[in-house]
Amino acid sequence: MSNAILQIQGLRKSFGNTIAVDDLSLEVNEGELFGFLGPNGAGKTTTIRAILGLLHPNSGEIRIFGQKVTPNHTRPLCQVGALLTPPGFLPYLSGYNNLRWLAKNNTTISKSEIWEMLELVHLQKAAKRPVRTYSLGMKQRLGIAAALLHHPKLLVLDEPTNGLDPIGMAEMRQLLRDLADQGTTIFLSSHLLHEVEQICDRVGFLFQGHLTTVRSVNELKKSHQDLEDAFLSLIQEAENAQDYEHA
Ligand SMILES: Nc1ncnc2c1ncn2[C@@H]1O[C@H](COP(=O)(O)OP(=O)(O)OP(=O)(O)O)[C@@H](O)[C@H]1O
Ligand SMILES: [Mg+2]
Repeated sequence: MSNAILQIQGLRKSFGNTIAVDDLSLEVNEGELFGFLGPNGAGKTTTIRAILGLLHPNSGEIRIFGQKVTPNHTRPLCQVGALLTPPGFLPYLSGYNNLRWLAKNNTTISKSEIWEMLELVHLQKAAKRPVRTYSLGMKQRLGIAAALLHHPKLLVLDEPTNGLDPIGMAEMRQLLRDLADQGTTIFLSSHLLHEVEQICDRVGFLFQGHLTTVRSVNELKKSHQDLEDAFLSLIQEAENAQDYEHA
């Protein structure tokens, strides 16, 4: 039996004449840390928005825990934590009050748990300051705390280390790896190949809306110097295939 937590089948999304994602199919298994890679404009955020029921695909299907997700059916998302870039918060409320506001419909999240989350992302000192005074990295940390607040089984993160300093990146790496080791399934997009190489189990390469390759990081490292080398050669292969098609 498949233990896929996230299933994407034949996803296609266009904006006018631009095909952002084309016939994308992918499964992510329980406890897996999956890296979603591709150049700017490849379709990563569009795919993530579709996973989160934030847009209507032209065709295809998303299933989370076996249940279909659409903008009109978002119930499976109760067990999902998400971070989109840039994370949106109420700017005049403090970091702490933003988390309290997000937790207002969930009576099982206590004030002490909110403080625990703020400590986890090292924001306890800035917790009472309005979010409008936060740096990009601080907003990103608060976004991670918000995504983790209800102890989700699946985390979907769009460039989670964006704006973090090197210490923040190392902490984020450790946090995500620990969560995956404890059974949380994580789907993240990133341009930071060195980071991805250190924590991800498997990666998928997206090129102009097409998922060209899905492999384990260990497998890729057998045939390439590192993930950056693999990324550059896969992009080159995809560009060559495109030139051949157009010739
Ligand atoms: N709302 C929109 N309206 C029109 N075009 C869009 C919209 N959202 C995305 N696109 C287009 O879809 C394509 C994929 O964009 P997307 O944001 O998914 O890429 P990405 O892989 O996340 O890129 P990046 O690495 O720069 O974040 C791009 O050509 C983009 O211009
Ligand atoms: Mg993006």
